[in-house]
Amino acid sequence: MASIKGIILAGGLGTRLRPLTNITNKHLLPVYDKPMIYYPMQTLLNAGISDLHIVTGGPYAGDFLRLLGNGKDFGLKHIHYSYQEGEGGIADALRLTEFLCEGSKVVVMLGDNVIEKNIVKAVREFESQDKGAKIFLKEVANPSDYGVAELDGDRVIGIEEKPANPKTNLAVIGVYMYDSRVYDIVRTLKPSARGELEITDVNNVYINEGSMTYELLDGWWADAGGGLDSLHKISALVAETGANKMD
Ligand code: DAU
Repeated sequence: MASIKGIILAGGLGTRLRPLTNITNKHLLPVYDKPMIYYPMQTLLNAGISDLHIVTGGPYAGDFLRLLGNGKDFGLKHIHYSYQEGEGGIADALRLTEFLCEGSKVVVMLGDNVIEKNIVKAVREFESQDKGAKIFLKEVANPSDYGVAELDGDRVIGIEEKPANPKTNLAVIGVYMYDSRVYDIVRTLKPSARGELEITDVNNVYINEGSMTYELLDGWWADAGGGLDSLHKISALVAETGANKMD
């Protein structure tokens, strides 16, 4: 089987961060001392994944090339890029990577997610998982803002996207591991009430066939896409404790 591929989804218009996003893409804004996209890139690289594909969109897509080029600053020789027209959802952005990742397992990370620790162990476990998918869960105080997982013993039995009355406080973080069938699954999706192809619907397909595993994330996790306050809080967290720790 082909080696595992890394995908960073950095599309969307970032309207919650205007006026900052009137001049560049949300994922290039600073989180403490680095552009936001550096964090998910480093997370994937630290997990031993160096075949990276970035999906972006909107009017400032060219800024990614100006900043990252072929990834020399990260020791890379090449980065693949795709352009997402509009904001069709996370699963719509993922769809665009099929031409590169067909036949491979993939680790998909949202471009606005920042995590403290190395995920290499979970990635290795997923590489030896027969088939299916793997997600990370994290206890949070505000589960209604996220995909929320329901467990039965050690199995995930369902995920609800931003439920008004969450069944647990276990958020599904923006790092997803899939086998190569994920592209066939995306093709079966219908847009949700908010008009997007939802990653939660993809995850529920794997859950329903009994091939979803999960791990509780060690260390902190932050979603930098929430707005200016969350951007500031995450910058402070990174300044205090650091991100992408190797142990
Ligand atoms: O952060 C984790 C959460 O991310 C999960 O718990 C939710 O289940 C999941 O739906 C997602 O929720 P958000 O509402 O935070 O997703 P958002 O629309 O902010 O998109 C997150 C990233 O995904 C964004 O930084 C870029 C990428 N994206 C998003 C959309 C809608 C794309 O590349 N294209 C898109 O069309």
